[in-house]
Amino acid sequence: MILVAGSANLDFITRVPHLPRPGETVLGRAFTTAPGGKGANQAVACARSGHPTRFFGALGNDSYAAPLRESLRASGVQDTSLTLDAPTGAAFITVADSGENVIAVASGANALLTPQREPDFTDVTHLILQLELPLDTVQAYARSARERGVTVVLNAAPAPASPLPADLLADVTVLVVNEGELTTLVGAGDRSQQLRAAQALGPQTVIVTLGGEGSAAVSGDQWIEVAAHPVTVRDTTGAGDTFVGVLTGALGAGLGLPQAMRDASVAASLACTGEGAQPSMPTREQIDRTLTDWP
Ligand code: RIB
Ligand code: NA
Repeated sequence: MILVAGSANLDFITRVPHLPRPGETVLGRAFTTAPGGKGANQAVACARSGHPTRFFGALGNDSYAAPLRESLRASGVQDTSLTLDAPTGAAFITVADSGENVIAVASGANALLTPQREPDFTDVTHLILQLELPLDTVQAYARSARERGVTVVLNAAPAPASPLPADLLADVTVLVVNEGELTTLVGAGDRSQQLRAAQALGPQTVIVTLGGEGSAAVSGDQWIEVAAHPVTVRDTTGAGDTFVGVLTGALGAGLGLPQAMRDASVAASLACTGEGAQPSMPTREQIDRTLTDWP
């Protein structure tokens, strides 16, 4: 069983010809809402790719919570999240025609998830964490997992405002970041040096996702590079979350890191072809079909 402890947000999405600069107004077209939040997204991606998945997070006591719970349920996620006396998290997402986005998150109930409210670790082999919950909560869950022999996967997203505590990184086995997050963690430099520097902070495995260029990793002494599956990009929202969820499911199923990264990479590419985070995440069947067609 994979446990995801993290955020759940309702995403408010506007498509525009180009992203507005500060002070600029850009006229968009249709407006949509879709279930999101990095934690819930990763749980949905993991479950759709065929792996038993439990989600633990905090939703609010408003009407925004229902579509989030429904998406988790419909994707086969065991939803153990709490309902707190607060608004449900909301994310305001602007997507340009190029597929790029900017996101502002109102954390709401997510920010009230305290370290004392522990998730259920029964039958859990891997815990996935991100940085949309309070940092002390993320740290406490990583420590509990480590003490139970559970493998900790940290997606250090969004990029932290200050350096991550050394204690947290010492409890992490697999660190997944994008290029910007990697630079935030270890500074600028040659990519292989950056990955080695991140590994020196504690994680045995460090993976960097590179958008259209795929992903690269260092794991112990092993170097791995996986190309992205070429697709027509509509909306990259949730692509990183898809990568993390599918990767961890594959690792939980016993696949080696290169194969797990290939699964994750194909799934993340497919997620870029559809609008919204959770609505665009592929099923196992779609991932397998694409892997077969792509030598
Ligand atoms: O990673 C994408 C997610 O970030 C969106 O679904 C939004 O809710 C924000 O948390
Ligand atoms: Na998408």
